[in-house]
Amino acid sequence: MKFPEIRPRRLRYNEKIRKMTRETQLSLNNLIYPIFVSETIREKQAVKSMPGVYQFDLDSAVKEAMEVEKLGVPAVILFGIPREKDPLGSSAYDDNGIIQKAIRAFKENTNLYIITDVCLCEYTDHGHCGIIKDGYVDNDETLKYIAMEALSHSKAGAHMVAPSDMMDGRVKAIRDSLDKNGFTHIPIMSYSAKYSSAFYGPFRDAAESTPKFGDRKTYQMDPSNRREAIKEGMLDIEEGADILIVKPALAYLDIIRDFKDCFNVPIAAYNVSGEYSLIKAAAEKQYIDEEKIILEVLTSIKRAGADLIITYFSKTVANLL
Ligand code: PBG
Repeated sequence: MKFPEIRPRRLRYNEKIRKMTRETQLSLNNLIYPIFVSETIREKQAVKSMPGVYQFDLDSAVKEAMEVEKLGVPAVILFGIPREKDPLGSSAYDDNGIIQKAIRAFKENTNLYIITDVCLCEYTDHGHCGIIKDGYVDNDETLKYIAMEALSHSKAGAHMVAPSDMMDGRVKAIRDSLDKNGFTHIPIMSYSAKYSSAFYGPFRDAAESTPKFGDRKTYQMDPSNRREAIKEGMLDIEEGADILIVKPALAYLDIIRDFKDCFNVPIAAYNVSGEYSLIKAAAEKQYIDEEKIILEVLTSIKRAGADLIITYFSKTVANLL
């Protein structure tokens, strides 16, 4: 009987040595917490499909932001639910819109790093991420409005903008508009590989952004495609993106790894609503150990190559670490 000479188990002997040799460390520094701010409610309201997640009115949103900051989470990404929706998503680029107000209020009350989701779907009455012409989302027409929205968020004081509409050329349109208006210092974190995914279901409850007709397949990516993600990432880098997002995260860990290997900018992953709700539902039934699963899942997203993780679990992780 020949005994093994190389024994990986030596470095698993106890928690001390395991910790010393751990390759991937989850850190609060890398987490971004999504917050939904609504103009249509007077107090915070639970999102049914996402236990622990709320829509906030402005006041309760500020309270939430202060709590998030106290827990040590460095950044938030904001989503708005406006009072008025119309075909052109006008409240998205209204300097007195709900997000613009929230940015100002957050900056007055916290030192959080404020990122805004730049998209039209929460603001259009048809629920699509762009302007509709003849039943089709018109790419180049949409770019103008997306750029206006990013500019309006920057004027209100956003630290970073994150376009999630998936129109071709939006990063360049936003960069041009920000630069022309004195916002050369505002980075763009682009949802580069955003797949047309069933994992967004619960989010659309939270953001009230379900499309009224059709689906998002003419602009979001087909889940079967891997090389196309690289093409999207390349285009966004050429157009001036500072950070690239892969979304969703768990079913797309290969894409996160591809991005990490192909691009020398920070990579972010969006641990989306459906990924959150799956864990919450299973935990409620006590099928799984919620805390352990959360840490394992987020660590695996980081191990796959994500520098930053946008996650509804940020507060939970802050309490765990
Ligand atoms: C679009 C947007 C979506 C998400 C963030 N921004 C989804 C969509 O296409 O409807 C999804 C986030 C999540 O599921 O947590 N503005």
